Amino acid sequence: MTTKTEIQFAYWVPNVSGGLVVSNIEQRTNWSYEYNVSLAQAAEKNGFSYALTQIRFTAGYGAENQHESVSFSQALLAKTENLRVIAAILPGPWKPALAAKQLATIDYISNGRIAINVVSGWFKGEFDAIGEEWPEHDERYVRSEEFIRSIKGIWTQDQFSFDGKYYQFKDYTLKPKPIQQPHIEVFQGGTSRAARDMASRVSDWYFANGNTVDGIKAQIDDLRSKAKANNHQVKVGINAFIIARDTEEEAKAVLEEIIAKANVEAVQAFDDATRQAGAASPEGEGNWAKSTFDDLVQYNDGFKTNLIGTPQQIAERIVALKNVGVDLILSGFLHFIEEVEYFGEKVLPLVRELEQQQEKKLA
Ligand SMILES: Cc1cc2nc3c(=O)[nH]c(=O)nc-3n(C[C@H](O)[C@H](O)[C@H](O)COP(=O)(O)O)c2cc1C
Repeated sequence: MTTKTEIQFAYWVPNVSGGLVVSNIEQRTNWSYEYNVSLAQAAEKNGFSYALTQIRFTAGYGAENQHESVSFSQALLAKTENLRVIAAILPGPWKPALAAKQLATIDYISNGRIAINVVSGWFKGEFDAIGEEWPEHDERYVRSEEFIRSIKGIWTQDQFSFDGKYYQFKDYTLKPKPIQQPHIEVFQGGTSRAARDMASRVSDWYFANGNTVDGIKAQIDDLRSKAKANNHQVKVGINAFIIARDTEEEAKAVLEEIIAKANVEAVQAFDDATRQAGAASPEGEGNWAKSTFDDLVQYNDGFKTNLIGTPQQIAERIVALKNVGVDLILSGFLHFIEEVEYFGEKVLPLVRELEQQQEKKLA
């Protein structure tokens, strides 16, 4: 039996080296294609609906090697049956016409399983290295919003025209259109006001960095009230680094070891780079603006969500997140394949049980 609105699960594809924590702790996770195929197949068997690839053009902060996101996503789709793969795309290097065309083809080949994550950029050094201009924080969102309006227009309309600051189209007709209707799903991340404002107008999904239940509730309330005013619907995913162990002590000990073995130099360099991102937003409240050293050991504040403990504790906390409006948990793990399997066997059944109990009570 399934409930009407089951919370969904995604995982971060380790397509860059170094795993999801900037730490010298042993990580039985590998960025190779072979490892990632086994992981994707394990994930779809264990209740994960989505996989999110990352886009990075240069090394730094523990990610020495990086496979490109769109080609890697397509390769994972070829080896899976149900998993939906979200390819990260950066406006700047990608232009909307190319992205729309490339993704429509992948949608066709994968029978409607590709999605995209439009990232606005946080790493100035990377943009400088590849010769891309670096607009100021809020201006990056002006460009991303035009990018999303453009690709959605191309996917849904014939003779699409658009006259923006960054992109212009005149009577463009894409054929074939994507299989997914009304269009391929568009995800977008960020914590700043500009990120939320854009999501409330044009994104299908908003990804938040890790946060407490109260913290994410405040973000969701703001996001959904703005979306309502715009007559737009947006779903929410939250990042969480999950450490599920048979006992709470074991799980906490793993967290302590990750932090104790942090790669201090890399975390500090990451901290400096993030000043170009969230802290650079006019309100100073974007991604990482309030992150401590310990928080930054996980790239997207994933410890803050506190899915660290026994399967029962984690399942209860997931349902608490669902109850404030979270639709999806974006998860990272230390030893990906084995922990995805543990999650599917031990945690997921408890989440579904709690959801059913809750639904019965409300009925
Ligand atoms: C879940 C999630 C995934 C992201 N993936 C990437 C990525 O693959 N590559 C990248 O350069 N930035 C990525 N970002 C960064 C965002 O696109 C954005 O630039 C950053 O969160 C700064 O947002 P803010 O200053 O508006 O809060 C990601 C952010 C989130 C929350």
